[in-house]
Amino acid sequence: PRKIIIDTDPGQDDAVAILLALASPEEIEVLGITCVAGNVPLAFTSKNARIICELAGKPEVKVYAGCDRPLGRDLVTAEHVHGETGLNGPVLPDPVMPLQETHAVDYLIETLRAAAPKSVTLCPLGPLTNIATALTRAPEIAETVQEIVLMGGAYFEVGNITPTAEFNIYVDPQAADIVFKSGVPIVVMPLDVTHKALVTAPRNAAFRNLGNAVGTAVAEMTDFFERFDREKYGSDGAPLHDPCVTAYLIRPELFSGRQINVEIETQSELTMGMTVADWWGVTDRPPNALFIQDIDADGFFGLLTERLARL
Ligand code: BDR
Ligand code: CA
Repeated sequence: PRKIIIDTDPGQDDAVAILLALASPEEIEVLGITCVAGNVPLAFTSKNARIICELAGKPEVKVYAGCDRPLGRDLVTAEHVHGETGLNGPVLPDPVMPLQETHAVDYLIETLRAAAPKSVTLCPLGPLTNIATALTRAPEIAETVQEIVLMGGAYFEVGNITPTAEFNIYVDPQAADIVFKSGVPIVVMPLDVTHKALVTAPRNAAFRNLGNAVGTAVAEMTDFFERFDREKYGSDGAPLHDPCVTAYLIRPELFSGRQINVEIETQSELTMGMTVADWWGVTDRPPNALFIQDIDADGFFGLLTERLARL
């Protein structure tokens, strides 16, 4: 199995991404989960990650708390989408499993320093603060990262928190800039693809009909999460952003995109956090990311439902 560290700000869709990874031990070995402030403050994200591990029946997973604010800006959160706790929807018990004492950034540095070359995949599902801080403090860890597969950014879909920026990149553009310039191979799941992964009513019903606690909780999470998109945009269901990352690790053939250059806007307040994606190759800037555009959505939901049934 591929060794991964999930860096996350749960978030209902982060929760589903984590559940999919934990349900797939043949393909994925979760070394640890590092939490960051994003959708909600760090106290909630580091608690929610443990709630999810316990829901999955995996209280042995190591969960670390990391940065509680972006590198150079005030924290922007998304309670308007995810609710007060970040995990509104299902009623789940408070976690019993401990939060690790090590800071997430120290954990990332120690783990990557001890790893073989190109042997660990990082899966950021929130703002990139923890990852950028680790890469800045210990640049040599770039050598042991196999790939960074992240959810963030947009090209044709442009923005969901400002007219031109996607939430994860907008919250910490400086951190995103560091990551995109790190030289590590990057796979990006932008809004362009996640907006094609909609939890329609039949897909939600499939989760609910699994008949296990995980299926019920995921159906309740997506019920909550989708009221925002339904009410605001009249969309067919909630986009399941973050699980695209963990699904890619299991079935990359469900996704397609282009190897392109991506740079991050960090100066202009108007377009702060924009992923300037050279989709048409109009510059000579070298490609630094596989920018995904398409998904086999039925294949994706089939995989998800089949795996959640195992928990
Ligand atoms: C991203 O922002 C968060 O609200 C979601 O969890 C996802 O990671 C989508 O823009
Ligand atoms: Ca997230």
